[in-house]
Amino acid sequence: MSSQHENWGSRVGLVLAMAGNAVGLGNFLRFPVQAIQNGGGTFIIPYLVCFLLMGIPLLFVEWSMGRFGGRRGHHSTPFILDSMSKFAFWKYIGVFGIFTNLAVAAYYCYLESWALGYVWNSIAGMFSGMSSDQVAGFFSDYTSLNSAEPIIFWVICLALNTWILSRGLSGGVEKVAKVGMPLLIAFGVILAIRGITLKAGHDGAIFSGTAGLNFLWTPNFSTIWEPKVWLAAAGQIFFTLSVGMGSIQCYASYLRSKDDVALNAMSAGWMNEFVEVVLGGAIVIPITVGYFGVDGMIELVNKAGGLGLGFRTLPYLFQQWGPILAVLAGVMWFGLLFFAGITSSLAMGTPIMGFLRDEFGWKRESSAWLFGALILILGLPTVVFFNYGVFDEYDYWAGTVSLVVFALFETILFAWVFGINRGWKEITMGADIKVPVLFKYVIKFVTPVILGAVFIGSLPSIMDTINNTAIHEQLAAATDETTISTLKKTIFFKNISRFALLAMWFSIAVAVAIAYRKRMREGRFTNIEA
Ligand code: TRP
Repeated sequence: MSSQHENWGSRVGLVLAMAGNAVGLGNFLRFPVQAIQNGGGTFIIPYLVCFLLMGIPLLFVEWSMGRFGGRRGHHSTPFILDSMSKFAFWKYIGVFGIFTNLAVAAYYCYLESWALGYVWNSIAGMFSGMSSDQVAGFFSDYTSLNSAEPIIFWVICLALNTWILSRGLSGGVEKVAKVGMPLLIAFGVILAIRGITLKAGHDGAIFSGTAGLNFLWTPNFSTIWEPKVWLAAAGQIFFTLSVGMGSIQCYASYLRSKDDVALNAMSAGWMNEFVEVVLGGAIVIPITVGYFGVDGMIELVNKAGGLGLGFRTLPYLFQQWGPILAVLAGVMWFGLLFFAGITSSLAMGTPIMGFLRDEFGWKRESSAWLFGALILILGLPTVVFFNYGVFDEYDYWAGTVSLVVFALFETILFAWVFGINRGWKEITMGADIKVPVLFKYVIKFVTPVILGAVFIGSLPSIMDTINNTAIHEQLAAATDETTISTLKKTIFFKNISRFALLAMWFSIAVAVAIAYRKRMREGRFTNIEA
């Protein structure tokens, strides 16, 4: 058994921390963009279907797996998965549950630090009097590192994460969630009301906020069967709920063995959906549509990429509301992004810390520092070579592909190797709600089939990414020297990032193998069959 006896302080704290894990930049930045790129109303139906048939079942699976592993003293996926079967193979699948967190944290913390930087710049009144091009230019300057400011905020952000993690779950993470989540929801509600009540002809708006809501909520059945839309919807469900990542299992491993998982999992999961669909859907889209119309908004997204709206466009639009509201809106918008971000990045730090503490007896402080140092090293390329696609490359492999692979394997392990009957007992044990038996069959049959379909459906795009198809096409069409050299550098940096990510995966696998040897030597076997 492990020497750590850490637990969550209270049920409210646990649910808020888990909701904080799920509620992140994905809810406010990624969701609107996915919806815009996939036709608004076309996107919502596949999205909700994926939530019911894949999201909720995976929440049940991951929460109960985590509690199961935690009872046996495991706090990261390699040995949580290992404890569920007698085959040595599964702990290497568990490597994904550490890898994803580190690789995502490496670029996520940078994004989180922009929010912090933009809070500061909003307070300092940096955007007042700027034209829309100037606000967009501010962002380009920021990400091109034309001053030291972005680096300073990034380092502050890493230091904050490290410090909070070193204070532990109940003393650090839980406290931040208890303050950050209510504030985030309050800011979100205020901005959403402002977005929805935006009136055509007032404050420079051309359309009413409701035009944006109509775009998002009017189902469009003509494109609903496109596989691309379904893949995007499934990908968003994974990212936003933090499933297929190893961070839920890790948080759940600090439950007490008789604690409820069913109701807690539903509370955190539905809270995330409220924040995403209701609040996340009522800020960026209605405000942008108010000023640019639906077509104008789609054009902006296609031109400036996914992160553009939140950072390049909104700070300019806030200026139209008068000087005081502009500052307040800026502080609320970037403040809520920062709280959303930090409660998620803390969740990304916890698995590696759990692993080091369980397997190698590290102290909490030293493992938090190692996490901070790793993110500094792994994140540096995404900061410095941001304009050469390194950031996107990390996001694609770690934040998109790896989740599906891991979720597919863990569901098979849970339903077919561990066994659905035993699994169902884990889910319902101590449950404060009656879980519909339907989910037993969904977990056994439906979820794995959908996951397999998502994976197979993604193969063409995975192959295109590996071959850099899109960039080669641009390269073939490019004529001027600078574009050609930028594209060539992009290919170079993308290839390097892939090797770096692979090296990271294998390093973690080696650490797991060493930990396993150590366990054998010390006779610490915890597999159910052993
Ligand atoms: N769910 C978070 C969001 O919506 C992202 C996130 C939280 C995450 N924990 C994670 C991503 C662990 C990868 C790994 O922004």
